[in-house]
Amino acid sequence: MSSKKKQDQVLIFDTTLRDGEQCPGASMGLQEKLQVARALARLNVDIIEAGFPIASPGDFAAVQEIARTIKGPRIAGLARCVDRDIEAAGEAVAPAGKRGRIHVFLATSAIHRQFKLRKAKEEIIKAAVAGVKKAKTYVEDVQFSPEDASRTELDFLAEVVEAVIDAGATTVNIPDTVGYAVPEEFGRCIRYLKENVPNIDQAVIHVHCHNDLGLAVANSLEAVRNGARGVECTMNGIGERAGNCSLEEFVMALRTRKDAFGDLYTKVETKEIFRTSRLVSQLTGLHVQRNKAIVGANAFAHESGIHQDGMLKERTTYEIMNPEDVGILSGTELVLGKHSGRHAFREHMHDLGFKLTGEKLEGAYNAFIDLADKKKQVYDDDLVAIVQQHIMEKPPGTFVLNYLHVSTGNVTVPTATVRLEKEGVISEDAACGDGPVDATLKTIDRITQVPGTLVDFALQSITTGKDAQGEVTVTVRFDDHGLVTGKASSTDIVEAAAKAYLNCINRYIAGKTANEEHPLP
Ligand code: KIV
Ligand code: ZN
Repeated sequence: MSSKKKQDQVLIFDTTLRDGEQCPGASMGLQEKLQVARALARLNVDIIEAGFPIASPGDFAAVQEIARTIKGPRIAGLARCVDRDIEAAGEAVAPAGKRGRIHVFLATSAIHRQFKLRKAKEEIIKAAVAGVKKAKTYVEDVQFSPEDASRTELDFLAEVVEAVIDAGATTVNIPDTVGYAVPEEFGRCIRYLKENVPNIDQAVIHVHCHNDLGLAVANSLEAVRNGARGVECTMNGIGERAGNCSLEEFVMALRTRKDAFGDLYTKVETKEIFRTSRLVSQLTGLHVQRNKAIVGANAFAHESGIHQDGMLKERTTYEIMNPEDVGILSGTELVLGKHSGRHAFREHMHDLGFKLTGEKLEGAYNAFIDLADKKKQVYDDDLVAIVQQHIMEKPPGTFVLNYLHVSTGNVTVPTATVRLEKEGVISEDAACGDGPVDATLKTIDRITQVPGTLVDFALQSITTGKDAQGEVTVTVRFDDHGLVTGKASSTDIVEAAAKAYLNCINRYIAGKTANEEHPLP
């Protein structure tokens, strides 16, 4: 029998698809966003912030599609306190029905009032109230965020919060927008609002902490200790600048240190954490550092002899969490080999969250057999890469690598011949370069004619052994778009580089196409 009380539940508001996607280079296409949203639903988060509908037609379409297809969590769309933003958000979340939420925000700190908005305090309150009222005409569930709340005068912050609750806000979210707060002070801010806003009981307090000083999780924990009951976070802590509060760290801290946080709990299905983390990394192209808490490759690795000895004697000497609780299944990470049949493959893909049937199942299975021929052991990361590279629908205009031949050596001028397919048409070219990768990327540039500048190139091995897949992550700057990151893996690192680079070009093209195809309402 569970003794959990509703008032102790901390709601998890996941903003991977909105603030997380604002991370430079992390942009995702519609299919990728849907895949992440499905994973977040399996993780059992309470609210998914699916995007900022007015930001671009592609964002609008993604929020609308997520609202239409994802069952379970509430679906939120972000809007400034501006009529057309709220109209777009209202229309985008409408398919979620009663689960639709509009999240309106307006900055309240002196520095933002003076330099960004050039508005007096009274004007801020007026605009915030008008924004909430307008949002209320679309949905019952309205959230208001006083942007840069942690640098706002406490008495004014309390005034704004009271006014927006009076106007109908059911959630007030207190952002530490620039990651400036320190835990004790941030906790005091939440307590102050609890004690000084007369109608505070009519709304849930959320917090939204950025990680500029590495304190986002600590600040969020202190906030819930002081009365907040919603935490806004992202998978792997991705987000603007240094990122947001990391979902996995917050959830596991609350769960592991029950002694410190009393009866507070979340409803997150923690066994889904690891898989979701890897999926987000794969789809955004943002690598998870090895020593990242909870989900990094080293999080549960014990290298030193003393630690290993302690672990063998008693696991809890050096391990405060059970890796299985976050979905790291020791010994079972090896998943499939070339003798695995279609049925095992389909079941495993289903467990990973991909429901494949018919032609898609056949295509993915063939790609898997090809890979299993090249390397004995195929891991979950390999399978996610297969789906991304072979199965996810590609918007028109995207390029697929059809053929690659590279000639290189210490006395040979590196030369690449590349064949790309776009909408059934094959184009071929060749070029020389400073090395095999350079020659390949130059050839791709000649064929695609998409002007981008390579700003970062990283190679790492994602699986173990001599037949390991090399994973290449590249970041490309496009003049009219900013940074785009692409990732691909192969047992051949030049092929991985070519695919990662094409992945960037395709993401760039997909972003442009989505915006052209889905004009804003
Ligand atoms: O960091 C921030 O203040 C935000 C708001 C829109 C909530 O992301
Ligand atoms: Zn933010």
